Amino acid sequence: MSQPGFGHYRAEQQASPGAVASGGAAPETGDSAEALLGDDAELDLARDEATARVERTLASLDAELVGLAPVKLRVREIASLLLVDRARRQFGLVSSRPTLHMSFAGGPGTGKTTVALRMAEILYALGYIRTARVHTVTRDDLVGQFIGHTAPKTKEAIARAAGGVLFVDEAYYLFRPENERDYGQEVIEILLTEMENERGDLVVVFAGYPDRMATFFGANPGLSSRVPHHIAFDDYTHPELVQIADLMVAEENFRFDDQAREAFSDYLTRRMQRPQFSNARSVRNAVERSRLRQARRLVELDRALTRNDLITLTATDVYGSSLFDDGSRSADSPETPDG
Ligand SMILES: Nc1ncnc2c1ncn2[C@@H]1O[C@H](COP(=O)(O)OP(=O)(O)OP(=O)(O)O)[C@@H](O)[C@H]1O
Ligand SMILES: [Mg+2]
Repeated sequence: MSQPGFGHYRAEQQASPGAVASGGAAPETGDSAEALLGDDAELDLARDEATARVERTLASLDAELVGLAPVKLRVREIASLLLVDRARRQFGLVSSRPTLHMSFAGGPGTGKTTVALRMAEILYALGYIRTARVHTVTRDDLVGQFIGHTAPKTKEAIARAAGGVLFVDEAYYLFRPENERDYGQEVIEILLTEMENERGDLVVVFAGYPDRMATFFGANPGLSSRVPHHIAFDDYTHPELVQIADLMVAEENFRFDDQAREAFSDYLTRRMQRPQFSNARSVRNAVERSRLRQARRLVELDRALTRNDLITLTATDVYGSSLFDDGSRSADSPETPDG
């Protein structure tokens, strides 16, 4: 997989300037044969092809994800770091590979997994990793049941993620202080060794809920010191959730009519106060259920359907939710707006 305009990081770092200029690059390093720039050369980042690719990814991150301003800022900072690092290498300025292991701390449905996928695309566009793939694991994928089973499991996961991103979801489950000989500790040690490896080609992202992540890193200072980028994902505000709903609905070629949007906003106000509210995931689930009610409504309509019928979600489709029940009917009973 050669990337135009940018060779693979390690290939460039390992080669001597002479070797780089002589063009003896391995196939996947593509154009790492690029000649070094002279001391008085100038490099216009704005006209750089890698910059353009990163800008495209950042622009779609902006357009497709509502809110998350601090997260987007951090992603941009990391992209800048890599762009400048790449420019430095074009001048033959060698420095160590930036450490990009990260922690994503945020409540359920705040976009951690989604942003990890985007981050992988950016790191790939900048040649920091070889593949934009994200391999997601949780404790059960890493920890063995018996003595001697954990190391092979963990190493297999690392091998699968190699060259890309290893996304350790609910990372704190690896650490069980109450159990002295918990195999999770072994996983942490193996990951640490991998993360400290200068030649390693893996980015590890630890994700989970904020409080528990803080405890986890507090209890594992060695790990914490290898994770320079801590990114916090805030819960979405009510207006952001409404905007997310609009975006999700539009993505699926639906639309809320005016009363439906109001109903959905009303729905979210109620839903946010309920237990197990999961931010954007709750929005997605509610949109799905509205679609289900719309379908039922349309099938029961005794007339030919128009395009408009098919794309429009109405207040009835939203108010059918059991959240608007007064206890008098079940979620599946025929809907009448009562909210
Ligand atoms: N800012 C956003 N704008 C639009 N859609 C979003 C946004 N954040 C999340 N979503 C959508 O919400 C859903 C849940 O997001 P995601 O899975 O990334 O959350 P998460 O933080 O990983 O959740 P969990 O902690 O439960 O794993 C996805 O369908 C995603 O596309
Ligand atoms: Mg997730």
